Amino acid sequence: MKRLVLLLLLNVPAHAGDIVEHARSHPDGRAAFSFDTDAWKDTEATRHLPIGVFDSGIGGLTVLEALLTLDAFNNDTLQPGADGTPDFAQERFIYFGDQANMPYGNYSAVDRTDYLRELIVKDAVFLLGRRAWPKEGKEPHFKKPPVKAIVIACNTATAYGLEDLRKAVAAWRIPIIVVGVVEAGARGVLESKAEGGIGVLATVGTCASGAYPRTITQTLGLAGRTVPTIAQQGSATLAGAIEGDSAFPESVAAYALKEARALAEAYRKTEAAAPLQTIVLGCTHYPLAKAEIDTAFHTLRQDPAFRDLVAEKRTFVNPAEATAKELFRELAQARLRLKKGESSILPHDQFYLSVPRVEETGIQLADDGSLDRDYKYSRSPGLLDFEDTKNVPLTPDLIPAASARLVRERLPAVWKQLSR
Ligand code: DGL
Repeated sequence: MKRLVLLLLLNVPAHAGDIVEHARSHPDGRAAFSFDTDAWKDTEATRHLPIGVFDSGIGGLTVLEALLTLDAFNNDTLQPGADGTPDFAQERFIYFGDQANMPYGNYSAVDRTDYLRELIVKDAVFLLGRRAWPKEGKEPHFKKPPVKAIVIACNTATAYGLEDLRKAVAAWRIPIIVVGVVEAGARGVLESKAEGGIGVLATVGTCASGAYPRTITQTLGLAGRTVPTIAQQGSATLAGAIEGDSAFPESVAAYALKEARALAEAYRKTEAAAPLQTIVLGCTHYPLAKAEIDTAFHTLRQDPAFRDLVAEKRTFVNPAEATAKELFRELAQARLRLKKGESSILPHDQFYLSVPRVEETGIQLADDGSLDRDYKYSRSPGLLDFEDTKNVPLTPDLIPAASARLVRERLPAVWKQLSR
């Protein structure tokens, strides 16, 4: 009863509330899914902590690339405008990809968004804590530093978990900034000033949540702009194919063409007069395949049935850059930014990836060693002393060859940090 009253007061749904309570009742951070709640007591020490970034896999590295390369502000005056120095030059990042549990975008189709929401809070708890696993070895260590801010570099996780996470941070009474990609993506649409219709390409889950149409409508509306027609297309395959997942055997180009066609068909149904012009890359993986996606729309236009539906020149919105700008502003406002001459407690960025914890009894694996698909999508929240995955250092050899090539070629700043 006491717990129910507490959850009602916090306005956190029970499944996310379980983990909020669990973390609160293990304040030394030694237990699974907990963190040292005293880690942010000293504000000056907090400023020197790294920034956490998480995604369901490696797609969020596109957001990390934007964070590493952003130069949209003067680092001394904090005014907009490039000054030749990356805006986060003094900061260090901890990246986490929950690859063992991805695709996040497919949980809604099997009615498991409650479990997804728990996974999202668990991702944040990992970044907040010191507990991580060595690549080899059966015991966790406590050497990972906590973070001072969390970037949800995953559209699906933002759509389903941003509010939970902000409420959790308030319930834990910790001074952590939480930034998500969807609001930033909507601001990217506003800043693009493109005319014509808007198409959102995202996961099935993100589209089912309605987060993009809702947020774009609010953002344009608040800015006094007429809201154009918005259509969306949720893909269950494209992110996995970009990730190099063997469950998606066709080429990225082939999946991209299917999604472009489906989006155009959805747009046709709206009977909007203007062609589809702004394409929101509403899944973190898609900027990695922007070339293939643009080619797909180009190919589509060769077909007379689609010529008037799709604009000749398309504007792509990658929410990553707008997310990086938002983080800069939030850190500056909270006076948590490191200034010139100051340094983070981390000499280099760190990378982690979840893998199945094969020694745990009861977990089911597929032939390639990943979590069995039926097992993965049938789990329920609330088992907080059971760890079927563990978060280990992410090294380039853990990334499938196809996606490693994309990261190397298209995310050079990330690749440099990852392969050091
Ligand atoms: N990172 C996810 C997103 O941005 C896509 C991949 C997934 O479904 O896990 O929505």
